[in-house]
Amino acid sequence: MGPTTGEPRKVRGYAEVSHETGSELLEQVLGQRARVSARLDTIGAVIAVASGKGGVGKSAVTANLAVSLARRGASVGVVDADLNGPSLGRMLGLRGSKLVDGSEGVVPPAGADGVLGMSSELLLKEDAPLRWKGPDSDRFIWQGVTEAAMLREFLSDVVWGELDYLLVDVPPGTDKIGRFLDLVPTPAGVLVVTIPSEVALSVVSRSVASLREAGVESIGIVGNMSGYSSPDAEHPLPLFSGDGIRRLTESTGLELWAEIPFDPGMGSRTDRGDPPGASDDSVFGRAFQALADRVEQGFGGREVAP
Ligand SMILES: Nc1ncnc2c1ncn2[C@@H]1O[C@H](COP(=O)(O)OP(=O)(O)OP(=O)(O)O)[C@@H](O)[C@H]1O
Ligand SMILES: [Mg+2]
Repeated sequence: MGPTTGEPRKVRGYAEVSHETGSELLEQVLGQRARVSARLDTIGAVIAVASGKGGVGKSAVTANLAVSLARRGASVGVVDADLNGPSLGRMLGLRGSKLVDGSEGVVPPAGADGVLGMSSELLLKEDAPLRWKGPDSDRFIWQGVTEAAMLREFLSDVVWGELDYLLVDVPPGTDKIGRFLDLVPTPAGVLVVTIPSEVALSVVSRSVASLREAGVESIGIVGNMSGYSSPDAEHPLPLFSGDGIRRLTESTGLELWAEIPFDPGMGSRTDRGDPPGASDDSVFGRAFQALADRVEQGFGGREVAP
């Protein structure tokens, strides 16, 4: 409401801003989107791996899915959209790779199983924290702007070439999913990672709702840390007391694409840059076989109505 007139105040979107503002805002935004979409034209499927919740295993799922698909013969690229807590450089063994600036843009280095990757870890000095050199009051705004700009550049200015899959590891925070969709409004699909805890359930449910509000219906649920497992264990043991994975699928009507146990050995291999993916017949390995199968089948038409 306006302070004096009582009239609702209209906030314009940038598509409504006239060219006479002198800012050329509309051209800039549309130009950036066009660059992203031109670059992604040669990619079979752009798939986001998101959650909203932090620490649920988005990056581990991205790295293990990427190598699982690559070992089946697919060409795969991975974008680490996390500026503050990048981990895919490490998980894909890309750290220390030199970036080559070619005539068409930056050439992404190849990591585990030939997966191409781009992460801010390749741009930052080892273990250097990210610092904003400016007034403290502006820090959060600029971090957000920088992260959004980084994602746009990773999508548009990197020579991805012809890929079957480009997986985008979306940082924690429901707003980060929105930022990804600003650049890629119609991804082939979004894998939403969750864990059994009740706290995760409420956050991840909100992420699913925001995806649907944005018109994304191609969503697969990945239940991570669904129990505790090791290579010699027949069945995973409970890890959390909650039943949040099942409750998320029931409340959203979405299908559970894979149920991945917490397997410390597999986790440490992932963190060392050697993600095991679907390499063996362990419960962890079988879960990634199932996930890779499902991704290969595509996102369309298998959703159960809520
Ligand atoms: N199923 C699993 N088995 C064993 N370790 C796992 C599993 N899933 C994730 N991990 C480990 O847990 C840690 C956190 O996972 P990860 O970094 O992938 O979470 P994240 O959701 O990407 O976190 P953030 O929100 O900070 O980006 C990592 O060390 C990872 O290897
Ligand atoms: Mg992560």
